[in-house]
Amino acid sequence: MKSKTDIIHAMNSSGIERAANLLRSGEVVAFPTETVYGLGADATNDSAVARIFEAKQRPQFNPLIVHFSKPENVWNETKPSPIGEKLASEFWPGPLTVVVNRRSDSTLSRLVSAGLETVAVRIPAHEKAREMIEMAGCPVAAPSANRSGSISPTCAQHVVESLGDRIPLVLDGGDCSVGLESTIVDISDATPVILRPGGVSQEAIEDALGHKVTQFQEVNETGSAALKAPGQMLSHYAPNASVRLCASKANPGEVLLGFGNVKDATLNLSPESNLVEAAANLFAMLHQLDSQGAKAIAVSPVPDVELGAAINDRLRRAAAPRN
Ligand code: TXA
Ligand code: MG
Repeated sequence: MKSKTDIIHAMNSSGIERAANLLRSGEVVAFPTETVYGLGADATNDSAVARIFEAKQRPQFNPLIVHFSKPENVWNETKPSPIGEKLASEFWPGPLTVVVNRRSDSTLSRLVSAGLETVAVRIPAHEKAREMIEMAGCPVAAPSANRSGSISPTCAQHVVESLGDRIPLVLDGGDCSVGLESTIVDISDATPVILRPGGVSQEAIEDALGHKVTQFQEVNETGSAALKAPGQMLSHYAPNASVRLCASKANPGEVLLGFGNVKDATLNLSPESNLVEAAANLFAMLHQLDSQGAKAIAVSPVPDVELGAAINDRLRRAAAPRN
């Protein structure tokens, strides 16, 4: 974390170059898109993505939208999707995000997917944003550039007020032309579902696809249907193995996912007890233990502060009884 935030008011090529250099070196950068300002990091770098959550002070790992400069780079990371290509040709660059299936050889961080097999992707219409991504040479994971729980920023000043000294750079591209987040359509299953209304209307999507599309809804206690926030409705990734928390050592039949200076850890989230490093490793290591066929995972205690709160939230869900 830097003690001072620079604001680059003119998004000229030297400003974009600085942002691109910061992204390449694993830092976070706030940048304008046509919807809202994003807090970006190299989507292929686990630690850089962990820094996004650190800066936002988000107590949970919600999956993030990954921003690309051109469609071919999207399809290199994701499984072929005719519906995705149709929506892309109609609405990209622009305020439409599609949730698609990751390729098994995807270079994207597991943390951007919060451990899921899907990833949300879009190509922003803001030309300078695309220039920055192109110059950085990596896809850019970016949630809205606000502290967790506050509203999305539509100008650079909002970002500064919300994230203050927690980030090194804000690229100021003026007011966002759309001013409302992107529409999110989940096309990872056969039937597309709108997860979040936004900059592209449902009617426009239906016109492009030639059929009706439903919005994800749940029925609340009062019996009326309500749109659920996509971050909450996710059936979150749980490893195949059972999970036991706050373990001082592995019992017979268990592997140990360590944290800090522990002996005999099969894998260690962070031998130096660094929470950013642990967050960066969390999903990748759970997946690794699963793919090694672990039946039961014991996890060392992780302090419940800063990113540790998000790590523990995730681990508690993984350890909860399943049906
Ligand atoms: O306009 C926008 O979409 C802005 C700009 C910066 O691009 N970004 C944005 O990101 O609004 P964020 O993190 O504030 O909201 C992303 C939403 C979250 O609710 C998250 O749960 C959902 O997208 N999401 C991301 N990946 C997902 C996935 N694989 N499956 C389902 N939902 C996903
Ligand atoms: Mg947001």
